[in-house]
Amino acid sequence: MQSQSADPLAARSAETETETQLDAILRVCASLTAPKPLEALLDNLLSEARTILPSDAAALYLADDAGLHLVCSQNDSARHDIRAALLNREVLGRPGGQNADPADPVASHVAQTGQPLNIVDVHTLGDDIPYRPLPDHPLLGTHRLVSILAAPMIDRNGKTTGVLELINRRDTNNEVVPFSSRDEQTLASLCAVAAVSVRNARLRDLLSHSHLDTILRLASAAEFRDGDTGEHIRRMSCYCEAVARAMGRTPEWCRTLLFASPMHDVGKLAIPDAVLKKPGPLTPDERVTMQQHTVLGAKLLAGSNNEILSMAERIALGHHERWDGRGYPHGLAGPEINEEARIAAIADVFDALTNERIYKPAFGFQEAFKLIAAESGRHFDPVVLDAFMSAQEEIESIYEAYRPT
Ligand code: C2E
Ligand code: SIN
Ligand code: SIN
Ligand code: SIN
Ligand code: FE
Repeated sequence: MQSQSADPLAARSAETETETQLDAILRVCASLTAPKPLEALLDNLLSEARTILPSDAAALYLADDAGLHLVCSQNDSARHDIRAALLNREVLGRPGGQNADPADPVASHVAQTGQPLNIVDVHTLGDDIPYRPLPDHPLLGTHRLVSILAAPMIDRNGKTTGVLELINRRDTNNEVVPFSSRDEQTLASLCAVAAVSVRNARLRDLLSHSHLDTILRLASAAEFRDGDTGEHIRRMSCYCEAVARAMGRTPEWCRTLLFASPMHDVGKLAIPDAVLKKPGPLTPDERVTMQQHTVLGAKLLAGSNNEILSMAERIALGHHERWDGRGYPHGLAGPEINEEARIAAIADVFDALTNERIYKPAFGFQEAFKLIAAESGRHFDPVVLDAFMSAQEEIESIYEAYRPT
């Protein structure tokens, strides 16, 4: 305390540095929240980290079930190794583990403990520590490895989703120095921003991924007929997946739902244009015709051993049933309606409400959210609805990623 205030110049320079770091973090926040493909975002993130905390090299690892994967790294001489290994494995369903990178011991240790590591000098580490860095660290090029700061990226559920690692802090004289405790705080802030941005970018990438695209194209046939671009079913299926995840369903089940739910309205293929494209309200007869899209869709999808198609069949049939028994086609109530259809019902109505239809204008996000909430125990299963509410942040990211124009 005393020594700091005794030297006004030093105090001022420390203050200025803090301001600079804060400014930089705010700038990173702004740049990372703008939609970008994951690769561009990660590269951007590492450059910013190395500007705020000048250092020789930086690396970002993402975690999945198979372990930690180096997805992006930089040093003075090169930016390289930008890979979306994680996404490819997830979406293409490659067997986990096979593509796992040889683990960096420091990053692995941080991922396992969920705690940051600040290594002042790797040459003074004892022999018995569990995170001994690799002597020929692949990131370093010609530099000699000295100081390392690595911190976990932690998501909203407290799960470590990645690790950001910086190597060899440089001071203003370009000397290699240890990372300070302020550096630790700065990196923690960056990691918090990174965790959210990476999650959003992965969602957006998932929405546009080619594997899903094939299914969506087929499923879109019905939608294209009434002028939609297929985005309704993209969003709708992502809402379904988010809700299922919030309900604690297994990742496999969530994934099946993600791929099955886009087909909920395929039965509309069989509905005459005069009804489907009618700009105004339907007559009672037309409504009966329209309601047939559930039964017709289920018929189209019936009889498959494929898990995705059989779930799609159940969703097509049940997505307009209501919790209170006043839905169609069978007037089932409560748990008589299968769970995937109860989830799809909320996702479908929420997306219908937030978008323009040939027969109605769009509601805003908040308004639609309120309308949905008011239907607890009436249109919608209260338990599924609670999950939908608890996933609001994620629902909003999906809504924003494909914002209706
Ligand atoms: P959709 O447009 O995808 O709507 C799906 C569901 O979202 C609707 O199921 C309804 O539960 C809900 N929904 C959509 N917009 C609103 C709204 O403004 N207010 C309220 N309270 N709920 C809304 P629903 O009613 O069984 O309709 C199924 C499908 O039938 C609709 O799919 C649409 O394709 C068609 N449809 C429904 N009403 C009309 C209409 O008045 N005119 C025309 N042309 N088609 C309609
Ligand atoms: C995400 O988690 O961001 C995308 C959805 C998934 O991977 O299951
Ligand atoms: C649309 O999404 O606008 C058309 C499909 C539907 O009405 O459900
Ligand atoms: C429903 O369609 O029953 C829920 C949405 C609303 O009340 O507008
Ligand atoms: Fe429908």
